[in-house]
Amino acid sequence: MIKDEFFTFPATSPEKVEEIRSKIGDFISGSRLEHTFSVEKEALNIAKYVFPVCGTDNSHFYDVSASALLHDITKGLSLAEQLELCEKYGIEKGEFPSCALLHSKTAAYLSRELFGVNDAVFSAILCHTTGKENMSVLDKIIFVSDYIEPNREYEECKKAREYFYEIVSNSPESILTALDGTILLSLDGTIRSLLRKNQPIDVQTIITRNHFFKPN
Ligand SMILES: [Fe+2]
Ligand SMILES: [Fe+2]
Repeated sequence: MIKDEFFTFPATSPEKVEEIRSKIGDFISGSRLEHTFSVEKEALNIAKYVFPVCGTDNSHFYDVSASALLHDITKGLSLAEQLELCEKYGIEKGEFPSCALLHSKTAAYLSRELFGVNDAVFSAILCHTTGKENMSVLDKIIFVSDYIEPNREYEECKKAREYFYEIVSNSPESILTALDGTILLSLDGTIRSLLRKNQPIDVQTIITRNHFFKPN
């Protein structure tokens, strides 16, 4: 049985999740809101396979919902607004500030201020774009769901989805290996896409990619 730090936190309450769900439309709308609900659905489905392997109780499904619902809460803000939040919360802006890179950090801090999310949910929101070396099971569920949810139309996302569900359908007990492999695939896809578009790559993305990389 795999024990994860995530399961040592008191879970988010069902009332809190309903409060978040009722207010999420004040922050994001349209296709972004659809993506958010789709990430939640995907994440809950993945958690259904992960939780039995980790021996966790069902109350932690509420952490999964809270993280998924809040992960892109600041994505609609302008760069100027992102930078204002960075200033307010003391977030490191990095070498190439952009909405794409800052929204995960600003979303985590804003979620903590507005909804008092626990540290496990905070972490899952904070690292959903770049990942990090020691990701909790919740971090991994949210990271992977964000990349493979069915509304994602990029070829790389579809391939990652196929890879993930092929492993899970053949051997559900290999779910944790499937998560790690999908994280590596998605980071590779993200790096390739950024190179194609001639955009900067967050150093953490490279660090995470090398952490999950397994030499042959
Ligand atoms: Fe995001
Ligand atoms: Fe997202």
